[in-house]
Amino acid sequence: MKNLLITFEGIDGCGKSTQAVHLRNRLESMGIPVLLLREPGGTVIGEKIRSILLDRDHGEMAPATELFLYLAARAQITAERIVPALKSGTTVILDRFFDSTAAYQGYARGLGLDTVLEMNIVATGGVIPDQTFLFDCEVPLARSRLSSVTDRLESESDEFFERVREGFLRVSRQYPSRFFVLDASLSPEVLSDRVYSAVVSRLFS
Ligand code: TMP
Repeated sequence: MKNLLITFEGIDGCGKSTQAVHLRNRLESMGIPVLLLREPGGTVIGEKIRSILLDRDHGEMAPATELFLYLAARAQITAERIVPALKSGTTVILDRFFDSTAAYQGYARGLGLDTVLEMNIVATGGVIPDQTFLFDCEVPLARSRLSSVTDRLESESDEFFERVREGFLRVSRQYPSRFFVLDASLSPEVLSDRVYSAVVSRLFS
């Protein structure tokens, strides 16, 4: 059996975090060593950066500041948690990774998809997911799933989220062998089964 780096991606409210927990629980119940982490976060430094990024009082944050903060959090979680876990044979599930930066900062904020993907290499040292699940759905459906108290990013406009969605779809077309695009309007049970069977077939291939 191999160990894998698996990432979950999609716009806010797409349901990926619930699915990441389902997958972690299902793998754990099979006795597979697994670690679930979220981005930005997953380390003491990363969680502090996360609170700067999501604070609604920081409405004046420049797009480049936002980009560098996401990259800084990523550099820390990669060095401190992801690489050591992968080396020890653990399967790592990430609730967001660098494709989010490509979609949100690269495409939706207009900093450039390819530029942002290149800059990510500095943060990750070249670590690339084995499999990326993109939970794709219409923006109104995702918005309807968000709680009424939104953070700085969640309180962006529908147009912003349309661009984020398009950014994700573009990256998925750029890297078809790594991406598995799922219709996030399907039931959580169906989605969980699809993710689980794709992961199990990779783990034992
Ligand atoms: P979360 O709500 O899925 O935990 O993610 C936090 C927010 O940060 C979410 O609105 C997406 C955003 N984000 C980016 O804009 N760029 C990134 O690189 C990452 C990882 C998240």
